Amino acid sequence: MRLLVTGGAGFIGSNFVRTALKDAAHHVTVLDAFTYAGNRGSLDGLPAERCTVVEGSVCDAGLVDALVAAHDVTVHFAAESHNDNSLNDPSPFVQTNLVGTYTLLEAVRRHDHRYHHISTDEVYGDLELDDPAKFTERTPYNPSSPYSATKAGSDLLVRAWVRSFGVRATISNCSNNYGPYQHVEKFIPRQITNVIDGVRPRLYGTGANVRDWIHVEDHNEAVLAIIDRGTIGETYLIGADGEQSNRAVVEQILTLMGQEPSAYDLVSDRPGHDLRYAIDASRLREELGWAPRYPDFPSGLAAAIDWYVANEAWWRPMKAATENRYAKTGQ
Ligand code: NAD
Ligand code: DAU
Repeated sequence: MRLLVTGGAGFIGSNFVRTALKDAAHHVTVLDAFTYAGNRGSLDGLPAERCTVVEGSVCDAGLVDALVAAHDVTVHFAAESHNDNSLNDPSPFVQTNLVGTYTLLEAVRRHDHRYHHISTDEVYGDLELDDPAKFTERTPYNPSSPYSATKAGSDLLVRAWVRSFGVRATISNCSNNYGPYQHVEKFIPRQITNVIDGVRPRLYGTGANVRDWIHVEDHNEAVLAIIDRGTIGETYLIGADGEQSNRAVVEQILTLMGQEPSAYDLVSDRPGHDLRYAIDASRLREELGWAPRYPDFPSGLAAAIDWYVANEAWWRPMKAATENRYAKTGQ
């Protein structure tokens, strides 16, 4: 199978390429704009004869058309992905997440091409801390941030292209990922690399907000299952029952790294900060037989810490610029 992977030099995309290439029948082309979040080092060591990298934007209609025509399946990871950045400047989020998805969908429509759209649980808004409910495929859309609003818009474009034009697409909405090659702007890598640098972790607000953590490999195995045997036109929620408060995550990181669990600082809250996400992945488990291989968050977190300790050469070049951006908002 010839796979076109947009955003394949980012966190989840690069892990997906690594997983997909374990199958010798797969050839991958990465289409990536190499924004601040794209990293060639995340693709090191992959078989060159089965992995091609193209530098370019998903908004470039000519390039996208030619690439889609030359592949069997497109998996669309490329996005502006960080909520805090979307609060500072929403414009690249509108461009890449909305115009980029539209550009891909038009190419997919022309070539009657199989398309899988990667999205997020944030399209559903948030839940109360004490609400027993979880998000399902039937939860109404209610995004909070410029990031999640553009992801919600991109999902709705896909649904419209399926219904109006018969495009062969599936959508997945996943919860918070963690694992190797995640940018140090994101919560878990930021706190691990802060502790390595002797800097106290920083929790927004009270630290009570809850995220539903899943290992990136479990996310990507689910995506491969949906591409293989998902029903065209359907949406699948991906999650591994990994709810943790931000405070609990920071306390675990500190303990695992030999510090006092209370050695963190509370900083100003994110505007519009979603309180809690939680995924009900029953459809994925029951229809496609998927189950997470890393259901134990504490051991997955320990492995992630080991990865950042061992791979300082990968993250060090981006650390100072990231912290300079946070310093401007006092976070
Ligand atoms: P990331 O920021 O690490 O990577 C994004 C990649 O897209 C980068 O390589 C970047 O260079 C590339 N890119 C950006 N604009 C582009 C453009 N115009 N054309 C081509 N490439 C472009 O993001 P991530 O965390 O790996 O997220 C990947 C996808 O998964 C996104 O669609 C995101 O919404 C979704 N998602 C992320 C999470 C999570 O926890 N990180 C959870 C659920 C869904
Ligand atoms: O739910 C899926 C989403 O998860 C994806 O769609 C997004 O692309 C991805 O970035 C992630 O969004 P979050 O906003 O939940 O992730 P982030 O890593 O930015 O923050 C996780 C939580 O930690 C959130 O409640 C904010 C908080 N936080 C974050 C940082 C960077 C802190 O308390 N301190 C911090 O320094």
